[in-house]
Amino acid sequence: MAINVKFIWMDGQMMEAEKATVPFLNTTLHYGLGVFEGIRCYDADQGPAIFRLAEHMERLNQSAKVLGFRQLPYSVETLCQAARDVVSVNGLRSCYIRPLIFHDSPSCGLNLDAGQARVGIAAWEWNAYLGEDALEKGVRMNVSSFTRHHPNISMTKAKITGNYTNSVLAKTESIRLGFDEALMLDPQGYVAECTGENLFLVRKGVLYTPHTAAILEGLTRDALITLARDLGYTVVEEPISRDQLYIADEVFVSGTAAEVVPVTEVDFRVIGSGKMGPITRAVQQAFHAAIKGRHPRSAGWLDYIS
Ligand SMILES: Cc1ncc(COP(=O)(O)O)c(C=O)c1O
Repeated sequence: MAINVKFIWMDGQMMEAEKATVPFLNTTLHYGLGVFEGIRCYDADQGPAIFRLAEHMERLNQSAKVLGFRQLPYSVETLCQAARDVVSVNGLRSCYIRPLIFHDSPSCGLNLDAGQARVGIAAWEWNAYLGEDALEKGVRMNVSSFTRHHPNISMTKAKITGNYTNSVLAKTESIRLGFDEALMLDPQGYVAECTGENLFLVRKGVLYTPHTAAILEGLTRDALITLARDLGYTVVEEPISRDQLYIADEVFVSGTAAEVVPVTEVDFRVIGSGKMGPITRAVQQAFHAAIKGRHPRSAGWLDYIS
């Protein structure tokens, strides 16, 4: 589906999308020197509302800090208002929001200090990321032949544009093999995360998820840990081996784009009953209530457009 965008916020100004361009000689294009966010706005009961907006913008600025930008052009508050404005001026209610801090350098070299950070924010209508049926029917995954990032090679806490070549390699391989998504192991061989999602497994009523050392600290992951504990479940953050997935009762993944999606098969092993399990369903329902404004946690997580 082609993205249809009317207005983009760039460097402090709202402009027609076709005017929001960057030069061909740009270090973000050539070397992946950029950081970005993926944020969802939901058509909640009380009106359009952005999920955990300030935390996403904080993570954006933190990603820029991790990459090495010394001066960030905009505060979290300014970025939040810009995101609300982009949703509103494009007449959107339920959409995906994409802020990007990119590097602008006249010499197009590798030194971050020889250029400056610039920012753009776009938003567009976007439905289910892993397919319309995935939220109920689940997805099939394989453990990728590509290893996830080492924290001292490409940094795992930052959404750095160049880091996503690893996700592209893994995702493309998995789709070509006939799976829906790739699951990646960390350099030590333990389960890390998927190409754009964190991962949970359920065994004997307890939820397990990899600790944050080598993964992106997903905001959906964090919300689900809170919601699961609210529901009375124990959630344990610890190293998870590949074969623990095979014998799990339930596996599910979480992310802004994917939301909460059951995993019904890993490496041709059926997980549990092969259908969405009861704990995945309970957590998914709590999440949907939260994003619609129908949950006690909604007030802390939803940022209304008006
Ligand atoms: C590699 C990776 N892991 C996990 C996630 C999930 O993070 P969040 O729930 O904040 O979207 C994402 C998406 O941003 C991601 O790109």
